[in-house]
Amino acid sequence: MNGKIWIRQLHRWLAVTFTVTVVVTFVALAQEEPVLWVSYVPLFPLALLLVTGLYLFVLPYATRRRSGRRAARSS
Ligand code: HEM
Repeated sequence: MNGKIWIRQLHRWLAVTFTVTVVVTFVALAQEEPVLWVSYVPLFPLALLLVTGLYLFVLPYATRRRSGRRAARSS
């Protein structure tokens, strides 16, 4: 349970970091002499977002499977 909260928190802060790096990239590329390498920086937090996001996505299915319950059905 604790790990779930930790990963969610990490995903949230990575989202903030990613957004900031994207804004910085816009500024860097708008210069008269664009600083091209900066545009690769957002890929790092984005890759971590993908990993933590996929973990958050799979988690409910994994816990349901482990507890032996089936998805709730109305009929
Ligand atoms: C790259 C692939 C990504 C995947 C697979 C992914 C997946 C997910 C999943 C499964 C959740 C949990 C949803 C829930 O059940 O409540 C989530 C939450 C969230 N995601 Fe992502 N995400 C990705 C990228 C991003 C990006 C690029 C951003 C924003 C820049 C972002 C921002 C957030 C935020 C703010 C939350 C809510 C976290 C909270 O609980 O406070 N994610 N994401």
